[in-house]
Amino acid sequence: MRYVRTMNNYDTFANYYDSVVGQREEIAVLLHTLLKGFAPKAKTLLELGCGSGSMLKVLTKHYEATGIDQSARMISLARKKAPRAKVSVGDITDFNLKKRFDAVICPFDTINHVTSFAAWKRVFTNAHAHLNPNGVFIFDVNTEAKMERYRTEPAFAEILKNETSIVDVQRVRRYRYKVNLKLFKREKGDLFRHHELLIPEIVVPTPQIVKELAKYFRRVSLFDPDRKKPTDETEELFFICQQPR
Ligand SMILES: C[S@@+](CC[C@H](N)C(=O)[O-])C[C@H]1O[C@@H](n2cnc3c(N)ncnc32)[C@H](O)[C@@H]1O
Repeated sequence: MRYVRTMNNYDTFANYYDSVVGQREEIAVLLHTLLKGFAPKAKTLLELGCGSGSMLKVLTKHYEATGIDQSARMISLARKKAPRAKVSVGDITDFNLKKRFDAVICPFDTINHVTSFAAWKRVFTNAHAHLNPNGVFIFDVNTEAKMERYRTEPAFAEILKNETSIVDVQRVRRYRYKVNLKLFKREKGDLFRHHELLIPEIVVPTPQIVKELAKYFRRVSLFDPDRKKPTDETEELFFICQQPR
């Protein structure tokens, strides 16, 4: 039987993704700091939506790490970038690895890519089902404040010698956005080729997320990326979920 794998947006853009967003080692370091603080004994870790493996590359230095992602192309990049991690294609709203972990993480606004709150609940159910009794689930979200700033400000571009990237956000309706990553890559001379990724994202009000998480975890803490208490202006919010029920 022939196995046909469908391509998604990330598949076609995978080779250019890191050029637009960078390696973001500082986020991996922040995740490690949070893990050391909230799950000091953790040895095993699962990343949901591991992409091209930028977080796993750093975290495999400290943990026995596993990753899943729905994009086969991103997974093949992750295999090269983080060879010590066990990575496979999978849907974070519907998976069963038949294994439990000390930590489950879902960083870099991956959960915003899941476009209904009913499906977020399935991610929470799956994260919870894959955690050991003292495990911790850490994820971050883009807030409405961030998406509104991005969509109301003019798009910004990073112009380098051989490539230019542009990130732009449009609002479809309240809480629903389209994030557009464009990369113009020099092909020869003054000729650049245009590659593009369009990501539908949703935002969910924080109290609604916290209320849902309380069904799965006894303790939920919120931080901004500087590990300060979030305000209404916070643009990226980290949820640290402990004591699985
Ligand atoms: C913003 S990237 C983050 C990648 C990685 N966590 C990082 O920090 O570099 C989001 C990733 O989530 C994946 N993704 C989105 N929805 C998914 C789903 N339902 N199941 C599995 N992966 C998903 C995409 O394919 C993409 O690789």
